[in-house]
Amino acid sequence: MSRVLLTGGTGYIGSHTAVSLLENGHDVVVIDNLVNSREDSIRAVEKLMNAKIPLYIGDLRDEELLERIFRENEIDAVIHFAGLKAVSESVYKPLEYYQNNLDSTLVLIREMLKNGVTRLVFSSSATVYDPANDPERVEGMPTGNCTCPYGWSKFMIEQIIRDCCHAYPQLSAIMLRYFNPVGAHPSGVIGENPQGIPNNLMPYIQQVAVGKLDHLNIFGNDYETKDGTCVRDYIHVCDLADAHVKAFDYLLKNDSCCLEINIGSGHGVSVMELVTAFEKANDMKLPYQFAPRRAGDLPIFFANADRARELLGFETHRSVEDMCRDAFNYQQKAQKQ
Ligand code: NAD
Ligand code: UD1
Repeated sequence: MSRVLLTGGTGYIGSHTAVSLLENGHDVVVIDNLVNSREDSIRAVEKLMNAKIPLYIGDLRDEELLERIFRENEIDAVIHFAGLKAVSESVYKPLEYYQNNLDSTLVLIREMLKNGVTRLVFSSSATVYDPANDPERVEGMPTGNCTCPYGWSKFMIEQIIRDCCHAYPQLSAIMLRYFNPVGAHPSGVIGENPQGIPNNLMPYIQQVAVGKLDHLNIFGNDYETKDGTCVRDYIHVCDLADAHVKAFDYLLKNDSCCLEINIGSGHGVSVMELVTAFEKANDMKLPYQFAPRRAGDLPIFFANADRARELLGFETHRSVEDMCRDAFNYQQKAQKQ
């Protein structure tokens, strides 16, 4: 049995990954400062999986706390989710974003090396790709030219990890470039419920569906796409969680690697298609109207998922309807609390 430290493990993707790791017979330990999550999520995972999860509440930049975690637990790998992630907020708070996301990674890698922990999986993002690329993103394509400090922080962390893998050959790392994670665990006990008015599409749809917001604004219907609305690659968060288990398994078998891997479905879905799928999956009508384009949006991008399949043996299994049904189920439960 192996033990994995999840930084930011009480968050949306971290809590789902905790479930997948436990399902696959691994143990997990979590550190989170709860800046964008609650302890409840990890307690819900414990209940769901009938497991005990050591939770250290504190900041990743706290070296003493990290020392303690590594001393108290035999850790085989770290999955590094912790970070601030709001695209628009990062434009107004660049110092906070760079300081949090970069410093926490530097401290983490230093403490890992000091404590002989040499396997790292990092939550990167499709946002690192240069927007001038072809819509189908392939790992070897140019990165950079990011549109916000959040994106640049992911770009910079990737470079830091590559440099560290080069300088410290005992370190092996996989940087997972997520596309658009959505949905929730089918139990409805964990999911994504952002504070305030959501920026991202699925959380916004969820809140319209439960009547918290009165309609969805679809940003642009005059793009050169199949139906005029933007196309993205949505991935069920439980599929994404499974990808982390595969990445961890890969690191257990392969030393000295440093890889970037796209994690998406490999298929583009338009905003309109997602709305229709949501209506169908949940047997309801979703009020929406067309609104002007949102600044900075690209018409189309989706993952080339070949490398994930070839190296990790990873493929998505959940459909767009599954994403919509599970997202709504979670939102209804969250609403009642
Ligand atoms: P989330 O906000 O739910 O989880 C991140 C967690 O990190 C939170 O629980 C937060 O409290 C914690 N955290 C932040 N800074 C910390 C620090 N200094 N010390 C300790 N804990 C800290 O976000 P998520 O959606 O679960 O995303 C996880 C990771 O995946 C993030 O790095 C994010 O940038 C990346 N990512 C997310 C998406 C997405 O759409 N959700 C897409 C691409 C990449
Ligand atoms: C956004 C981020 C990206 C991040 C990703 C996480 C931007 C510019 N990019 O990507 O860095 O990694 O989230 O999933 O913010 N839409 C509507 N109405 C809404 C909300 C969204 O029509 O109320 C449309 C958008 O115009 C877009 C699509 O839905 O075409 C998806 O939007 P969103 O969920 O915000 O994700 P991205 O823009 O792909």
